[in-house]
Amino acid sequence: MHVELYEKIWMWAATGLIGVFLATIVLSAGLQAMQPPSHIETIDPTTLAQNPEFADPAPRPGPGGGVIVPVRAEMFSFTPDPIVVPAGRPVTFRLTSADVIHGFLVVGTNANAMALPGYVSQFTVTFPTPGTYTVACDEYCGLMHHNMVGHLIVKEETP
Ligand code: CUA
Repeated sequence: MHVELYEKIWMWAATGLIGVFLATIVLSAGLQAMQPPSHIETIDPTTLAQNPEFADPAPRPGPGGGVIVPVRAEMFSFTPDPIVVPAGRPVTFRLTSADVIHGFLVVGTNANAMALPGYVSQFTVTFPTPGTYTVACDEYCGLMHHNMVGHLIVKEETP
């Protein structure tokens, strides 16, 4: 069978690319470049109901006049709901899941992380604009995934 030179070149290039992609996966897995979120804090998802932070999660004072907000995600809700935080102060979210992987997206902001069973995902954001924001689960988690919605109320600080 006769194959044109250009076609051969493209075939080899495509094969080479696949090789590069596979090598990237193997190397990053082998060198442990793929890691769970943030600071790799683990938690037993089966005992969240007894966990002092996540059994009945509630905001608490944090550094810099901000708040620390533990959030438990589960099919198909976020707790607490609504989450109330001050505007213009650092808000440190600590997310975990009681069952499967969920997402935590504060719509209209860049606050977005995954809630993973077995891990605590932590990140800090500041919301400058007071208002009520929708929190959406943006990882498919089951039949009622589309109904997994929470609310974040950013309150103007009373001087
Ligand atoms: Cu939780 Cu989708």
